[in-house]
Amino acid sequence: MARAGLLHDLFFYDWRVTKFELGTHAFIHARVAVRNAEKLTPLSPMEKDIILKHMWGATTALPHYRESILVDFVDDYQAVVEFCQPWSQHVKRLLQQLTNAF
Ligand SMILES: [Fe+2]
Repeated sequence: MARAGLLHDLFFYDWRVTKFELGTHAFIHARVAVRNAEKLTPLSPMEKDIILKHMWGATTALPHYRESILVDFVDDYQAVVEFCQPWSQHVKRLLQQLTNAF
C-alpha cells in the first residue's frame, strides 16, 4: 500500500497545460501513473488496483482491495485540505482582524 501510495500520481506533465483526447487529467493520469510505475518496478495486482482506482468517485471503476479504498480516501482527504487551506487561512485572517478591532 505504501509503494502504491507513493506511485499513484507518477506522471511527468503539467496537468494544467497538457490535454488528452481520451479524457481529462482526472480520468487519464492513473493509467499514465501505472505505465510509468511499471517502467520502474514490477507491480502486484494490489498495487496496480490502488494506483488505477485512487480517483474512485471521480471515476466509476470500483476499488478491489480495502487498501485501494484507504489510499483513495486519504488522497481525497488531502485534496480537500489543500483546496480549503487558502480559504481557511483567509477566514482566520478575517477573524483575527475582527478580534483585533474589538
Ligand atoms: Fe491522482
